[in-house]
Amino acid sequence: MQVTLEVIDRLAEAVRAGLDFRPRVGIILGTGLGDIAEAVQRPVIFPYQQLPDWPPSTVRGHVGRLVAGSLEGQPVLVMQGRIHYYEGYSMAQVTLPVRVMQRLGVEILVVTNAAGAINPAFEPGDVMLITDNLNLACMAGLNPLVGPNLDEFGPRFPDMSQAYDPQLCAAARRVAAEAGIDLKEGVYVGLSGPSFESPADLRFLRLAGADAVGMSTVAEVIVARHGGTRVLGFSGISNKANLDGKTITTHEEVLEAGKVLAPKLETLVRGVLRAL
Ligand code: HPA
Repeated sequence: MQVTLEVIDRLAEAVRAGLDFRPRVGIILGTGLGDIAEAVQRPVIFPYQQLPDWPPSTVRGHVGRLVAGSLEGQPVLVMQGRIHYYEGYSMAQVTLPVRVMQRLGVEILVVTNAAGAINPAFEPGDVMLITDNLNLACMAGLNPLVGPNLDEFGPRFPDMSQAYDPQLCAAARRVAAEAGIDLKEGVYVGLSGPSFESPADLRFLRLAGADAVGMSTVAEVIVARHGGTRVLGFSGISNKANLDGKTITTHEEVLEAGKVLAPKLETLVRGVLRAL
């Protein structure tokens, strides 16, 4: 499916018609982290299947609905469940929700994901502030901006030098310190999935400078930055990546870790929203 401005605007219009406010912050909730959406006040709920051309989320741990409302006094648009490349969608479809958010007026995007720890100092249950990303799927040609440039959003060759907004990162560090959360920091590497990494993959990623690995986020951040949206990112560490080949990684483990991670992420996200 070709994602054109018409497709984006049809979707944006369908959401706008149900809202009596302009959302300022978009939030994308990763695997097992959907509970934060329950905290949204005066929620207006759009199940993905009721939105024209919105790709349905097919993965367990992703509810599949857009929740609009207020969180810590900020008008928000929360994606309770994201869309992944490995579900069979194009990168343009995967990032269509970010385009819709941009058309609706979103200025700040908070991305969250479940990720495996490559950095040996990280443990399941830790939250990592994403300070930069390694763009492996996109480097291999799967960049969401491939195709005609949508000039209405941004330039052909957007900058990615400070993709994760330094001021928002600083706010997250302050919130973590106040709440007594030991916030880790590092580089997130995005792969296409859906297979988990082999031990050799992981050793390669470690050498390349990655701290955490997952199957999402990077394409969304590229599209966000293309459109001038500021980004804050958190990885919920759900498992230790298996560099020595001695343990196996399962989706169940990722979902289970989400229960420990979701409250910490909620504290961080709400704290940053309060500080805006
Ligand atoms: N690898 C890739 N994606 C993931 C992992 C992992 O170990 N854990 C959660 N998402």
